[in-house]
Amino acid sequence: MNLLAIESSCDETAAAVVKDGRETLSSVIASQADLHSIYGGVVPEIAARNHTQVISQITRQALLEANLTLDEIDGVGVTFAPGLIGALLVGVNFAKGLCAASGKPLIGVHHLRSHIAANYLAHPDLAPPFLCLVASGGHSHIVMVHDYTEFEILGRTRDDAAGEAFDKVARVLGLSYPGGVLIDRLAKEGNKSAISFPQVNFSDAPYDFSFSGVKTSVINYVHKLRQRGEEIPTADLAASFSEAVCSVLAKKLFLAAHHLGVKQLAVCGGVAANSRLRELLAAFAKDQGCCLYLPPLSLCGDNAAMVGSAAYYEFLQQNIAKSDLNARATLSIDYKYSDIS
Ligand code: KG4
Ligand code: ZN
Repeated sequence: MNLLAIESSCDETAAAVVKDGRETLSSVIASQADLHSIYGGVVPEIAARNHTQVISQITRQALLEANLTLDEIDGVGVTFAPGLIGALLVGVNFAKGLCAASGKPLIGVHHLRSHIAANYLAHPDLAPPFLCLVASGGHSHIVMVHDYTEFEILGRTRDDAAGEAFDKVARVLGLSYPGGVLIDRLAKEGNKSAISFPQVNFSDAPYDFSFSGVKTSVINYVHKLRQRGEEIPTADLAASFSEAVCSVLAKKLFLAAHHLGVKQLAVCGGVAANSRLRELLAAFAKDQGCCLYLPPLSLCGDNAAMVGSAAYYEFLQQNIAKSDLNARATLSIDYKYSDIS
């Protein structure tokens, strides 16, 4: 079964064709990052307008590269939640138009479910159940993936997401948006033990995260040095901050795995591209005898191939969207199909 997939939840317009949920036949991504970088973050209206401008061309290119016509596609998957509402609406309406014109089934896909599914494209042997760390710009979750369409949230951030903290710290250091990858690069030249930043734990919720404290500590540290006219040790700061965030992410994933006795683990989302996080996770996995699945860097950030994979598994459950499918800015990953239909 070949599904066309469309993603427009934030600042990437993407289209892909995926076969049987596991094989990427094409994947086209148009990033708007350059458009937003002058504002230091994503401007929702600019994002929506730009999606509108390029979505037809990106979709045509994805079909062309897969060597298929719309007639030969078995259905259309589209990200409908969560994300920037104006941005989501562009993809949802475009996909609805394609389905209305072609008579193909429409499948609404949850953005975080699709990030998890990125691992199915990279790892043919991976199948639920497994425990997954979802770390993106908007979310930080520890999720038990009971089945392809059955999820349980074990831990979540109580304030900022990990990616958001990376981007805000990057901004304070004068780095451009999105700053996560730039902090990662800078951190490699610094000493991760140079500055001690807080790592928050909750006694009543051991798998929950909090990243606003570490973010504020970095901001205060930088402001103090600036007030004194002292030089900011950017590389040491980037390394120490990355260490604080990544070690909490890795430790809590493995703590949950240990408590639950789960040996199969996965990671996904933009922050899964972080080199220190990948290093820490690999070391924990080796130490605890766990099987760790990481997406390649190309599948960590937003793309439509992962949407095509997630859509396939929703389709197998007959989770076909009705003609009144709407976009949603927020929706928990553990939603039931009946909640949206
Ligand atoms: O999953 P994603 O592409 O979009 C959302 O769904 O939010 O994640 C984007 C986030 C951004 O905050 C970006 O700075 C962060 O992932 N990111 C990184 C790295 N690459 C991307 N954070 C840390 N280290 C990286 N190498
Ligand atoms: Zn994402």
